[in-house]
Amino acid sequence: MSLVKYKIIEEIALIEISNPPVNAISAAVRIGLLETIKNLSINEKIKAIVITAPERTFLAGADIKEFGKKVDAPILGKICDKIESLNKIVVASLHGTPLGGGLEVAMSAHYRIAAPNTKVGLPEVLLGILPGAGGTQRLPRLCGVNMALDMMLTGKHVPAKEALSSGIIDKIAENNNTIDNGIEYAKKLLKDGFKPRPTSQIQNKISDTKETSELILKFKDTASKKYKNLFSPHAIIRSVEEGLKLDFPDAISNERKLFEECIESPQRQGLIHSFFAERANTKIPELKEGKAIDLNKIGIIGGGTMGTGISMAAMNAGFNVIMVEQNDEAIQKAKAKINSTYDRSVKLNRITTEQKNKTMDMFSATTNLSDLKDRDLIIEAVFENMDVKKEVFVKLNQICSQDCILASNTSYLNVNEIATVVDNPSRVIGLHFFSPANIMKLLEVVVAEKTSKDTVATAFNLAKKMKKVPVRSGVCDGFIGNRILSKYLVGTYHMVEDGASPFHVDKVIRDFGCAMGIFQVIDLAGGDIGWATRKRKAPFRHKDDRYVQIPDRVCERGWFGQKTSKGYYLYGENVDFLSPNPEIEIICEQERKRAGITPKKFDDTEILDKYIAAMVYEGTKILSEQIALKPSDIDVVFTNGYGFPKWRGGPMKYADMIGLDKILKNIKKYSEEDPRFWAPPKLLEDLVKQNKNFDSLN
Ligand SMILES: NC(=O)c1ccc[n+]([C@@H]2O[C@H](COP(=O)([O-])OP(=O)(O)OC[C@H]3O[C@@H](n4cnc5c(N)ncnc54)[C@H](O)[C@@H]3O)[C@@H](O)[C@H]2O)c1
Repeated sequence: MSLVKYKIIEEIALIEISNPPVNAISAAVRIGLLETIKNLSINEKIKAIVITAPERTFLAGADIKEFGKKVDAPILGKICDKIESLNKIVVASLHGTPLGGGLEVAMSAHYRIAAPNTKVGLPEVLLGILPGAGGTQRLPRLCGVNMALDMMLTGKHVPAKEALSSGIIDKIAENNNTIDNGIEYAKKLLKDGFKPRPTSQIQNKISDTKETSELILKFKDTASKKYKNLFSPHAIIRSVEEGLKLDFPDAISNERKLFEECIESPQRQGLIHSFFAERANTKIPELKEGKAIDLNKIGIIGGGTMGTGISMAAMNAGFNVIMVEQNDEAIQKAKAKINSTYDRSVKLNRITTEQKNKTMDMFSATTNLSDLKDRDLIIEAVFENMDVKKEVFVKLNQICSQDCILASNTSYLNVNEIATVVDNPSRVIGLHFFSPANIMKLLEVVVAEKTSKDTVATAFNLAKKMKKVPVRSGVCDGFIGNRILSKYLVGTYHMVEDGASPFHVDKVIRDFGCAMGIFQVIDLAGGDIGWATRKRKAPFRHKDDRYVQIPDRVCERGWFGQKTSKGYYLYGENVDFLSPNPEIEIICEQERKRAGITPKKFDDTEILDKYIAAMVYEGTKILSEQIALKPSDIDVVFTNGYGFPKWRGGPMKYADMIGLDKILKNIKKYSEEDPRFWAPPKLLEDLVKQNKNFDSLN
């Protein structure tokens, strides 16, 4: 059955595309649409064609099965050109989210009407490609080069009102009835004597002038900094810039050529992997049977860095929040922080004062834990100390109903142990938010031995409401992210003690594409946190483990990073300006001497190889222990919580791309010097033996 049907209503042909759930532009849709257009083009009686895709949304973009690949004919660009060249009026009647190819089809129509709820966009850049069906040429003709480049470089969704004022659409309908909207609009256009209006011939918003060249230069300048490691943003700018100097058909061919170059780029592979990985994270056993319970009222214990951030994340998702702190002073401090964060959002026009006040109305704070007795979910964010956490959970066990979900935001501690102090451990779970919790997307959902499926399902549902990216983790010291972080952090200390400069290490990591170097991260999080963890673990350390004392020497001086204005770097007003602390190199030299190490020189490749190897090493261990259920979950943790570049796919995907045999070879080489730290993981050896990659475990 064809996915594209049409009927004729007087002199108007109504095309209805139906490919549920989101009317993706699959090969069958393309074939059907082209055939329909061809049939209608020769029907003299028809004066106007209305393209609709009723149900949930107008064409929402490419079929994900074809994402970023070379697709079967007919390609969408040819269909768009054909639509535009029709000598009858073509109206696209939009609703929902006409994105990517969906908007490209709409822009090839002669007129566009949209339901009030419509949002349009060309988000191809997020997948490492460019709009390759005429989008880079038609969008600037409709809304001008400035807005078109902004939309295509960010991939943002533009609401109907803005789409109308900028010229992307011609009219906003009064309701969401996309069929009636289209037909009424086509009738009116015919009645008023409107003619076909090919977008390719609209010239008043584009011109190859000095101002346009200067504007494009500005975009190039920003892109060279902001997207320096990416390929497609630069290809998008080139396509627009070069298109201005070419005839439309040549500009379209040029766009196609650049599109194909994007397809070949390694960044495309990483970004597409990230896209799918972020959708596979919910494929976990508990969600098959678990039923999420309804949450309305949330309690937060602790109003420090995390408690305030989690409170805001909860309120932003519409939850009523009560926060518990130890004393009034702490309450005032927490309130002031929340208040100033929202004030900043008002100042930046992200929210209105009214919205801020409404949100703040959902918040209250108390020193009395019993005030949490009516809560559906409580998230504990007190100090990282097992005794303190257990004491809180013992009290919650007495105060709250046995159904209330009790979550801990612990970074490392054993959630199974925390759960032992309550009568009903099936409702205890780890919800590991990342700082700042109102902004960072990642949420590790730590499933303890006795956590019920319903509790897990509720946590995933909460994440969805908070617009977080949840990843299931089992219980171990540090869960997925911090456990891997601990491994490569120690690996980095080894390198530094062996002679590498911390600042060189950071530069290599940044050049690789990570948001920050590891020593910058330590300074941001606070060196004291790692110091406390090292002290906690000291009694369990094996006598043969290599222990580097450099970070202890730094902490002993009270240099905890940004919070003390001094750490590995020096901080003044501008914390973004990287100024190495000169005394760090002196400490490193002293420590190398003390440990009897003759420093050697490290080049960039050696640093990066070891850094990645440590990450992949621990990732492999975590997979064998089923702490992470699949490699792509580890990738999601790192690209959403640790600044690992999405365009490299995440550490496990990156390992696949460079070859597991190469990683294993490096690990074996390192293990000759330090067999305790680098003993090759069996799973990695097995995969290499079987000529498989991590993707085979996804
Ligand atoms: N800071 C981070 O980047 C980060 C990230 C993820 C998870 N975590 C975890 O979140 C938790 C909190 O960390 P933080 O950075 O917000 O610490 P913080 O020191 O900034 O805040 C802790 C707050 O808890 C309050 N508190 C302590 N005991 C209390 C009690 N019995 N009742 C009520 N309030 C109490 C303290 O007054 C303090 O304000 C820790 O378990 C930490 O490991 C921290």
